[in-house]
Amino acid sequence: MAVIKVRNTNEVVEGQEQVSSFLEKQGVLYEHWDMSKLPSHLVEKFVLSDEEKSEILSAYKSEIEDLAERRGYKTWDIVALSDATPNLEELLKKFENVHTHTEDEVRAITAGHGIFIIKGDEQTGYFDVELEAGDVISVPEGNPHFFTLMDDRQVVAVRLFIETEGWVAHPYQEKQELNK
Ligand SMILES: [Fe+2]
Repeated sequence: MAVIKVRNTNEVVEGQEQVSSFLEKQGVLYEHWDMSKLPSHLVEKFVLSDEEKSEILSAYKSEIEDLAERRGYKTWDIVALSDATPNLEELLKKFENVHTHTEDEVRAITAGHGIFIIKGDEQTGYFDVELEAGDVISVPEGNPHFFTLMDDRQVVAVRLFIETEGWVAHPYQEKQELNK
């Protein structure tokens, strides 16, 4: 289950209901997929062949299609990052800049962990959403955020897009230094 840490207050939000309600107030979609549907040979596997990526997409076909229909997403793929990824350090550096997109950023974690650092409303400020396998999140279009890995430095996620060409990061200038 996802855990939220509010940067200004150090408040920690845990538990499916509390996390969902916190994120809903911030306009962030949060759902959960049943990880027992993941084929056992793909559990905690971070280097994936094209065939294995297709297997993950097949295992969650109904969840993906349901989410896509509700939210207007048209295409999806799998991203896998780990120390086996060439240029992981460079990629992470690139990720760790606050930015926005012209469409939602949707990730369903199927292995490992990831954190989204998201700009909440004025009262809340930035908060971290720590995600594990089964967590599904959609950061709204135009909402400043960045993504990074956790201590295990590995993640597999389904990404959903309206159009992949439109999914470009636009830098967002923040006064304070946010990166850890
Ligand atoms: Fe992003």
